[in-house]
Amino acid sequence: MKTERVLITGAAGFLGSHLCDRFIKEGYHVIGMDNFITGDKKNISHLTSNSNFEFIEHDVTKHIIIDGDLKYILHFASPASPIDYLKIPIQTLKVSSLGTHNCLGLAKNKNARFLIASTSEVYGDPLVHPQTENYRGNVNPIGPRGCYDEAKRFAEAITMAYHTYHKLETRIVRIFNTYGSRMRLNDGRVLPAFIGQALRGEDLTLFGDGSQTRSFCYVDDLVEGIYRLLLSDYALPVNIGNPNEITIKEFGDEIIKLTGTKQKMIYKPLPQDDPKQRQPDISIAKKLLRWEPKVNRADGLRITYAYFKSLSSDDLNKVEHKSFESYVK
Ligand SMILES: NC(=O)c1ccc[n+]([C@@H]2O[C@H](COP(=O)([O-])OP(=O)(O)OC[C@H]3O[C@@H](n4cnc5c(N)ncnc54)[C@H](O)[C@@H]3O)[C@@H](O)[C@H]2O)c1
Repeated sequence: MKTERVLITGAAGFLGSHLCDRFIKEGYHVIGMDNFITGDKKNISHLTSNSNFEFIEHDVTKHIIIDGDLKYILHFASPASPIDYLKIPIQTLKVSSLGTHNCLGLAKNKNARFLIASTSEVYGDPLVHPQTENYRGNVNPIGPRGCYDEAKRFAEAITMAYHTYHKLETRIVRIFNTYGSRMRLNDGRVLPAFIGQALRGEDLTLFGDGSQTRSFCYVDDLVEGIYRLLLSDYALPVNIGNPNEITIKEFGDEIIKLTGTKQKMIYKPLPQDDPKQRQPDISIAKKLLRWEPKVNRADGLRITYAYFKSLSSDDLNKVEHKSFESYVK
């Protein structure tokens, strides 16, 4: 039997690279696509000698050409951390608008099923807690995070339009904060930020009074949820995340305990539009996909900490990921 082919955009990123691993493990031929704007070749270096993996360096906001059949397209290309999308807001808007349009056109052309990586950020700073899929959100379109949140809302809208108008098979996953190996220490998200500071012997920076909440999902759990959603027949958005909520202050205490750092927490003002609370309602995923997270935070953090500890001192001390100048048009 011919091996089925899957296109994964954003393949050199944190989540994209884990998805490549999973689809190869499931027996698919994976075509990874990325322009490395926030990704890293190292995340897929272990796959380059695998005959079931091929890589195309390409900016998905430009027309995409792929020869042969495709069974699935998973569109994960997009800057995902505030530190990235605040620096490259226009690329962020383009990858979820033009990029999603290009991927949908390709899916239609290949008769492939399409899955878009959406986000809990479509709920903005939520007024409903926990967030159910039918909550329409509280997003500031012109605030600093608008470039990401509105681009993802557009991505959902155009995906649904292709579903209803062209009868394309589509899936929408709303991903909540996820962690695990291959995150960047300097990507500005709280988990790698705290661990990086602990490893470098710096104080842990806490924004606001630390009472804001987050819920963290281990990457293997997330990938399992996405895989099940893709194989389901459900076209409406589905939250995938871990409902186990924690305040950032409590989370800082956990990191101090895990790493054994002697440093303390220092407080800085909360950035504009920073969501005060975040917790997925995963009733739909539980019922429809028979999915719920399996990895508890203590275990997930131990594995992730071991990964960060294995990084070179260059990676540990890198402040800027890269210069974005060559990408800015
Ligand atoms: N990590 C999370 O907790 C989280 C939460 C919600 C949603 N998501 C979504 O999941 C996806 C992946 O997030 P991540 O955490 O892996 O981020 P990441 O930055 O590690 O990966 C994104 C990848 O997309 C690539 N990319 C960006 N623009 C591109 C373009 N125009 N052409 C080709 N490649 C491009 C980057 O180079 C990078 O490799 C994103 O769509 C993000 O919005 C992630």
